[in-house]
Amino acid sequence: MYQILLKQIEAIIDDKLPLVTNLSNVSALLYKLENINWCGFYLSDDKNLYLGPFQGEVACTTIPFNKGVCGAAFTRKETVIVPNVNEFEGHIACSSASKSEIVTPIILNDKVVAVIDIDAPIFDRFHNEEKIFLEEVAKILAPLFR
Ligand code: SME
Repeated sequence: MYQILLKQIEAIIDDKLPLVTNLSNVSALLYKLENINWCGFYLSDDKNLYLGPFQGEVACTTIPFNKGVCGAAFTRKETVIVPNVNEFEGHIACSSASKSEIVTPIILNDKVVAVIDIDAPIFDRFHNEEKIFLEEVAKILAPLFR
């Protein structure tokens, strides 16, 4: 499944298209993953992470760099897996349906330009397999932020 998705992501992105266009289609591909209820991007500007293309319910629009799982992944510059969002201090609950979460930073020239965020309606949905997959996705997408 992950290998197929990676191939589809590589095939669908086109660096001649606007960033938002590419990320929109990638969010649609990521939404094919089983047992998830939200996936999308938060893009960083100088001050905050702000909502980018996504699939799922309406989500919070602005996340400070030091807040939530997204902020943790941004600050630590690494994937953060939260098996139970209720136990993560500072978790930002956009939807009460979300029980576990994974966030992977997209890094270009040593700077976090965005994060990929996926929520699941079940506890303990994300493990090393998903981390490896999302970090591969992040690597594919990073050059689009040039
Ligand atoms: N739960 C995230 C906020 C974004 S929503 O999951 C879409 C967080 O704590 O950063």
